[in-house]
Amino acid sequence: MGHAQTQGLGDAQLGLRIMANRQQGNCVTCHQVSVLRDAKGMDGAAGKQGDFGPSLDGVAKRYSVAQLRQWVVDARQLSVNTLMPPFGTLEGTAQASPARPMLSPEEIDQVTAALATLR
Ligand code: HEC
Repeated sequence: MGHAQTQGLGDAQLGLRIMANRQQGNCVTCHQVSVLRDAKGMDGAAGKQGDFGPSLDGVAKRYSVAQLRQWVVDARQLSVNTLMPPFGTLEGTAQASPARPMLSPEEIDQVTAALATLR
C-alpha cells in the first residue's frame, strides 16, 4: 500500500497504523476493520479485532468527513451515552495522567483520513 493522501486531510496510511496500534488509537479492540485484518506490519491488528462497536467497514459511506472526525474527537457529541472514549479531548473525563488527549490534532487528522478511505 502506498501513502494515500486524502485531500485536505492527514496521511491515511499513518492513520490506519494508529487505528491498529494498541498504544495509540487501538480502535480494533472495539471495531472490525477488514483492511487492517490482512495488512502486514500493522501492530496487533491481525485476527484480534473486537466487536464491541460496529464494524468500521463502509463508514465513509455513512458519514461526512466532519462527522468522522467528530466520532474520533468526542463521540459523545454524536451519541450521548456512548461507551466509545473521546480521543481528542479530556473534557468530562477522569483521566489525570497523561493530562492530554489520547491523540494529537495531527493524529486525529490521520485517523480521519483513514476512516474516509473505508468505503
Ligand atoms: C472502548 C471501545 C471503543 C474504542 C476503543 C473505539 N470505539 Fe468507536 N465506537 C464504539 C462504540 C460502542 C460505537 C457505537 C456508537 C455508540 O456507542 O453510540 C462506536 C462508534 C464509532 C463510529 C461510528 C460507526 C457507525 O457506523 O456508526 C466510528 C466512525 C468510530 N467508532 C471510530 C473509532 C475510531 C477511529 C477509534 C480509534 C481511534 C474508535 N472508534 C475506538 C466503541 C469504541
